[in-house]
Amino acid sequence: MADKYQRFTQSPVGKWLAPRLGLPQPAPLRRYQPGQPPLTGPAVVGSAPGGRLAKVVTEQIAAAGIDVRDEADRAEGTKYGALVFDASGITDPAQLREVYAFFKARLRSLGACGRTVVLGTPPELVSGRERIAQRALEGFTRSLGKELIKGSTSQLVYVAPGSEHATESTIRFLLSAKSAFVDGQVIRIGAAGTENAKVTAPADWDKPLDGKVALVTGASRGIGAAIAETLARDGAQVVVLDIPAQGADLSAVANKIGGSALQLDVTADDAGKVLVDHFTERFGKLDIVVHNAGITRDKKLVNMDESRWDSVLSVNLLSQLAINDALLASDVLGEGARFVGVSSVAGIAGNLGQTNYGTSKAGVIGMVDDTAPQLAERGHTFNAVAPGFIETQMTAAIPVMIREPARRLASLAQGGQPIDVAETIAYFANPASAAVNGNIVRVCGQALIGA
Ligand SMILES: NC(=O)c1ccc[n+]([C@@H]2O[C@H](COP(=O)([O-])OP(=O)(O)OC[C@H]3O[C@@H](n4cnc5c(N)ncnc54)[C@H](O)[C@@H]3O)[C@@H](O)[C@H]2O)c1
Repeated sequence: MADKYQRFTQSPVGKWLAPRLGLPQPAPLRRYQPGQPPLTGPAVVGSAPGGRLAKVVTEQIAAAGIDVRDEADRAEGTKYGALVFDASGITDPAQLREVYAFFKARLRSLGACGRTVVLGTPPELVSGRERIAQRALEGFTRSLGKELIKGSTSQLVYVAPGSEHATESTIRFLLSAKSAFVDGQVIRIGAAGTENAKVTAPADWDKPLDGKVALVTGASRGIGAAIAETLARDGAQVVVLDIPAQGADLSAVANKIGGSALQLDVTADDAGKVLVDHFTERFGKLDIVVHNAGITRDKKLVNMDESRWDSVLSVNLLSQLAINDALLASDVLGEGARFVGVSSVAGIAGNLGQTNYGTSKAGVIGMVDDTAPQLAERGHTFNAVAPGFIETQMTAAIPVMIREPARRLASLAQGGQPIDVAETIAYFANPASAAVNGNIVRVCGQALIGA
């Protein structure tokens, strides 16, 4: 799956040449395979005095089959798979030294594709010096992500007081190979009104979506097909949707995953009604809605005709709002339903020739911001992924001189795979992610743009 340049840097000549020329050296990323050990080495969990998360998170890590050790127990030469630090006890910026000291002492012992995670309290929920200290953690974890080598990643998880028990799906995801291309991210648990969210640990963590019914739009190829496959792998019954012109590819995806196909243009006036009727009649419910269908119609604004503007806004944003309205007005949604949007780094940083696309994808973020708190009142969640450079037909068409820098200008110095986006969506969909609401998680290898 490595691109040509990546293969070169892994060859004997490339291994010798790349560091001497100061060229990026993208590491092969460890991706999830059923049955593999969750981590390549033991995890260590540290805490600042007064932390409220270390104990529960240690139990969760051990329950995931990961060996949790103290440095003293670690056999000579063993590399850590993960370094986790509970910074929730830090109430003053001077205590940030605890974070420095924990990672400084252990970073050289972190193995390839290792995981670093800092846990804290959402700054907006505290005040004074504690707020300043907690906010400062973001600068630490994002900078650490830029320094880590060999495919290792760095994340910050803010956990609202009272949501300590709601962290398991996030910890499992971030420590596992499922988050291979997620780097430098900040995830909030227990925000957006989810204090009373019903967090249900799945009976089987390998099939967390057993019994769930999912819809994935734009699923005949690329990222959408990977999302459908991943949700099906995790046990969901999946309906894949695409425009009639993609009918043959759509059927192939449906057959491959044992799901069913629905040919529909999401911009049709009656799309919402068609979906409500379809899921009510066929399944009696709908639990997971993934708004993946999206298009680009690039032109600089001065040359952009109305149809380019209208079509992109219509597919990427307006149709999704209309479908959400129809679903929420009906009785079709299952208990603890999950809505997932697909934004883009272009919606965060902006992109030349993409005023229409950037607007629509920033609008997806607005949709999550506005809808997540309302959905929380009904026990549902709404999150989005924001992919960076993902290897698909869409990005293969980008001219090489633009494509190469886009791939390399990221901490992980490579493009992601559709599966990376899919794994993040499956994490949002997990029944244990009930308090993970209102998040935008970039799946971008910590791309430098818009970071
Ligand atoms: N590839 C990337 O690097 C990247 C980066 C950021 C965001 N994204 C987003 O990820 C999503 C998937 O991207 P992809 O690269 O797989 O694209 P893709 O073009 O390969 O797939 C998009 C799918 O959406 C379908 N679609 C388009 N209009 C539709 C409509 N009106 N109704 C139903 N289906 C429709 C298409 O037929 C296609 O199958 C998109 O929302 C895209 O904007 C992709």
